[in-house]
Amino acid sequence: MNPGTVFRLDGKVAVVTGGGSGIGRASADVLAAAGARVVVADLDAQSAEATTAGIKENGGEAVARQVDVADPAAVTALIDETVSGLGQLDVLVNNAGIMIRRPLTEVPPEEFDRVLSVNLKSVLYGSQAAARVMRPGSSIVNTLSTIIDFATAGTGSYAAAKKGGEALTRTFAVELGARGIRVNGVAPGWTDTGITRERHTDSSGRFEQDRFDELAGKMATVSPLRTVAEPVDSAYAVLYLASEASRFVTGHVIRVNGGASMT
Ligand SMILES: NC(=O)c1ccc[n+]([C@@H]2O[C@H](COP(=O)([O-])OP(=O)(O)OC[C@H]3O[C@@H](n4cnc5c(N)ncnc54)[C@H](O)[C@@H]3O)[C@@H](O)[C@H]2O)c1
Repeated sequence: MNPGTVFRLDGKVAVVTGGGSGIGRASADVLAAAGARVVVADLDAQSAEATTAGIKENGGEAVARQVDVADPAAVTALIDETVSGLGQLDVLVNNAGIMIRRPLTEVPPEEFDRVLSVNLKSVLYGSQAAARVMRPGSSIVNTLSTIIDFATAGTGSYAAAKKGGEALTRTFAVELGARGIRVNGVAPGWTDTGITRERHTDSSGRFEQDRFDELAGKMATVSPLRTVAEPVDSAYAVLYLASEASRFVTGHVIRVNGGASMT
C-alpha cells in the first residue's frame, strides 16, 4: 500500500447526511477532494446545494438531495436513488443531527422522539438501507459525540441518542463484518458549527458573538490541547474511516476531542 494513495477515494460513491453545514459539509468537502462522488443530503435543500456548488467549484463531483433522515422511507429512497443514479454506494456518513437542550425532568415525549429520530433512528434506517446495497470494502461512519463519555445537565435526550448510536455502530460492525462492510464512529468534541451557534442565536435571529466566544473559551479548557475543534478535524477522521487506510478497523469510535475524554 502506498500512503500517498491509500486515503484516495477515486471511483467511490459517498452519501453524507447533514452535508449542508458544519461537520457534514466539511466531510463532504474532504471526501470529494479525495476523489469520491458525493451525495450531499440535508433537510435544508439550499444548504445541500451550497455544499455541492463548493465541491464543484473545486473540481469535485457532487449532487444535492433534500431528505429528512427521521423518515425511514425517505432514507431508503436516498440510498436506492444513489445506487440507481451513480451505480454504487461505498461510503455512508450518518451525520445529520440536532440538539434540543432541556432538563430530562421536563422533556416532553414528542421532543424526546424527535431527538431520537433524527440522531439515532436515522443511523438504523441509513445503515439498514446501505447494508442491502453495499459491496465488500464499503464503510459506514456515524457521527456520535463526546457526550457518550460525559453526563451534562440539559443534554440527556441527545446523550441517549448518541450513546444509542454507539451501540448501533458496534452491533452493525459485528453483523456486517463477514460481508466486508466496516462500521465506525467519529465522536467530535465541541466544534464551531450550526448546532453550537444556535444556542447563542436569540429569537430575532441575532447571533451573540461575545457569549459564543466566551463559551468557546470555556470549552477549550476541557481539552489538554486547550483549543476547540474545527469541522475539518472530524472530517479527516471520517476520511480515514472511509478509506482503505482503516481496512482493519471496525466497531471503533475515534474521539476527535483534543483529549477531553480518553476512553
Ligand atoms: N458541533 C459540535 O460541537 C458537535 C459535537 C459533537 C457531535 N456533533 C454532531 O455532529 C453532527 C453534525 O452537526 P454539526 O455540529 O455540524 O451541526 P450543524 O447544525 O452545522 O449541521 C447539522 C446538519 O444536519 C442537518 N439536519 C438536521 N436535521 C436533519 C434531518 N432531520 N434530516 C436531514 N438533515 C438534517 C441540518 O440542516 C444541518 O445542515 C451531528 O450529528 C452532531 O450531533 C457536533
